[in-house]
Amino acid sequence: MSNTQPAAVASERTPLRARKVSFAWENTPLHWVPGDPFTTHTINVLHLLLPAGERWFVHVYRQVLPYIHDDRLREDVIGFIGQEAVHAQAHDDVLPHLRGLGLDPTPYTAQVDWFFEKLLGDRTLPPGRASKWWLMERVATIAAIEHYTAFLGDWILNAEELDRRGADPTMLDLLRWHGAEEVEHRSVAFDVFMHVDGGYRRRVRTWAAAFSALVFLWQRGTRFFMERDPTLLGGKASLAAYHARGKRGTLPSTRAVLRSVPSYLSRSYHPSQEGSTAQAVDYLAHSPAALAAEARTTGTP
Ligand SMILES: [Fe+2]
Ligand SMILES: [Fe+2]
Repeated sequence: MSNTQPAAVASERTPLRARKVSFAWENTPLHWVPGDPFTTHTINVLHLLLPAGERWFVHVYRQVLPYIHDDRLREDVIGFIGQEAVHAQAHDDVLPHLRGLGLDPTPYTAQVDWFFEKLLGDRTLPPGRASKWWLMERVATIAAIEHYTAFLGDWILNAEELDRRGADPTMLDLLRWHGAEEVEHRSVAFDVFMHVDGGYRRRVRTWAAAFSALVFLWQRGTRFFMERDPTLLGGKASLAAYHARGKRGTLPSTRAVLRSVPSYLSRSYHPSQEGSTAQAVDYLAHSPAALAAEARTTGTP
C-alpha cells in the first residue's frame, strides 16, 4: 500500500460553513437554457443524483469521524457534512417544480436511491476487518466522486456561455452556489481518504468504479428526461449532442472530462492544485441565495 503524501496548496484552504439557502422556482421555465433542452436536461440530472448521493456522503462520513485523529481535518469534515446536507436538500427542492412542468422524476430517483442506499449502503458484515474494508472503499469512492463535483463546480463558475445564452438566473445561482462550495471543500474528501487509508490501488479501483457509474447514471438520466419531456417529440440524447455542447461551452468539453482522469490518478495529485478558492469565495459573497441566507441568519433586512 502506497501512502504518498501529495503537496497541498495551503493558501487554497478556507474554513467551511453551510449556507442555508433556498430558491423560488415558480419563474424558472422547463427549458431553463433557452432553446436547448439537451443542455437543460443534462444539467438537470444533478437534481436526480445529488440528493441521494450527498446524503450518502453524510451517512458515510458520520461513520468515519471516529477514525479521524487530526483536529483540523475533523473540523473540515464537520463543515463538509453541513454543506453537503444543504446541497442535497436544495436539489431535492427542484423536483416538485419539475413534476409540475410534466417531468416526474420518481422512476429514476427510485433507482438512484437503490444505488446509494442498497448497493453502496451499510452491509451486514462482522465487526473488524470486513466492515472497516467496506468503510474504506466508500471513503475512497467519495474522494473520487468529489474530484468530479469539484471539476463541475469549477466549470460552472466559469461557464459564461450559459449567461450569454440567457440561462435562468435562479438555476444558475443554485448551480454556482453549489459549485462554489464544492470548490471550497474540494480537498476534504481526498484528505480524509489519505488520512484513513490512502492506498493507491484503492484510489484507482474506486475511481474506475465511480467514473463508470457516473457516466452510466448521467447518460441514463439525460435520456430519461429527454424521452419524457412533454414538449419534445421523440427527444433523444446522444454522444454527438454532448460533444457539440462541450464545444459550444454550455457543457464541460469532452476533452476537459478526459483530462480530469490522469490528474486524479497522478501520484502527486492534490485537489487544491486545481480550481480557485478565491473565485469560489468571491461568488459566494455575491450569490443572491447565499446573501439572502446570510441575511436570514444575522437577522439583517
Ligand atoms: Fe455538494
Ligand atoms: Fe462536495
